[in-house]
Amino acid sequence: MHKNSMLVLGMMSGTSADGIDTALARISGAPPNLEIKLIGQVKQNFPPGIRTEILRVAEQNPLTPGEFSQLHARLGQIYAEAALNACKKLKISPRKIDLIGDHGQTIFHQGRPVNFLGAKTASTLQIGDGSAIAALTGITTVSDFRPADMALGGQGAPLVPFADYALYRHATLGRVALNIGGIANLTVIPANAKPSDVFAFDTGPGNMLIDALVQHFTHNRQRYDKNAGLATQGKLIPQLLQRLLNDPYLRQNPPKSTGREYFGAAYTKKILTLGRRFNAKPNDLFRTATIFTALSIVDALNSFVLPKTKIHQLIVSGGGSQNPLIIGQLSALLNSFPVGTRHAVPAPPSARTKPNIEVVTSDEFGIPTDAKEALAFAILAYETFHQRPSSLPSATGASGPGILGKISYAPPR
Ligand SMILES: Nc1ncnc2c1ncn2[C@@H]1O[C@H](COP(=O)(O)OP(=O)(O)O)[C@@H](O)[C@H]1O
Ligand SMILES: [Mg+2]
Repeated sequence: MHKNSMLVLGMMSGTSADGIDTALARISGAPPNLEIKLIGQVKQNFPPGIRTEILRVAEQNPLTPGEFSQLHARLGQIYAEAALNACKKLKISPRKIDLIGDHGQTIFHQGRPVNFLGAKTASTLQIGDGSAIAALTGITTVSDFRPADMALGGQGAPLVPFADYALYRHATLGRVALNIGGIANLTVIPANAKPSDVFAFDTGPGNMLIDALVQHFTHNRQRYDKNAGLATQGKLIPQLLQRLLNDPYLRQNPPKSTGREYFGAAYTKKILTLGRRFNAKPNDLFRTATIFTALSIVDALNSFVLPKTKIHQLIVSGGGSQNPLIIGQLSALLNSFPVGTRHAVPAPPSARTKPNIEVVTSDEFGIPTDAKEALAFAILAYETFHQRPSSLPSATGASGPGILGKISYAPPR
């Protein structure tokens, strides 16, 4: 590692609103020779009351400007506490940390411009005040990464592809990094890719539908379907699956991004209504929603990725990588040829045959599946601190790369 290396704490809290993932990394160098070493990770839950309020607000339920201001400030405190707690768990003094990169909590995301008060407008809002984090931790903090890209005409998402490129590019292997959070998104890194060859998009739901259905039927006693224990007891409802697969978002061409605004409560209600029509039991709905989630990812690969470039590996991260039914489906549909017969059946990319992609988790690259996105925001913060861009216009659709985020300096020591 170079002398100029920095210890950076990345923090991510995604659309699942389950909690805050923290990753501590030592980063040095500059693109294309960034050196990134993950040192540790900590996962923390949101206090239950906070989680409920985040979900309520992210579902676009009303709140007053005063409540909104309070929530922004309170989340800043919570992120600061999470950063300090992570330091304690990792047995490192906060004084040794050079920088924090905090994604914040998304409460609204409109990636494509729509009419608003007479003008086409796109916007995204991640809350949790960066100044509070910097003041309470004594660590300079980069926050609010997305608006810079949006201001340049991009969708403000996805931003992780810059990190995926730094972590996973390979001279001879084509790779897709897939993160299954509340929403699932992928980054395509063709073999020997230049940054401009990288493209990325949200494939659709990740764990969001499964979580919402489980919470509905267990009256919030269970937050998610641990290890697909419930879904594996149910049966697939093919008519329902077909209806879901006809969703217009899945057909939309990339670049595209989505969120709770689309795959949130109203979507879950639609599934519940269809479920009643097909006499589905709760476990049947869990199974069908889980298979739909996996198939929507495979569909995205078949429609938008494989016709363009050869892919050898799918590297999965995010909470959905812990769902054996999702991973099992991905492997079964993408990689069913027994080893040794990989190239025995040549198939045109247009045909819906199995493309023989190896499905692995990010653990195999030394990145725990729940640290990957947090690590990405450590990398983005490091780039911003050095006044360098970290958005990929090929991924977001922006007119050019942007230097992302806002820097809140730590108070003088
Ligand atoms: N063991 C597991 N079995 C099944 N699903 C899991 C498991 N662990 C995590 N998940 C899923 O992952 C979700 C959290 O994923 P995460 O990557 O934190 O998403 P986000 O970035 O949206 O917060 C949980 O809500 C749950 O649905
Ligand atoms: Mg999470």
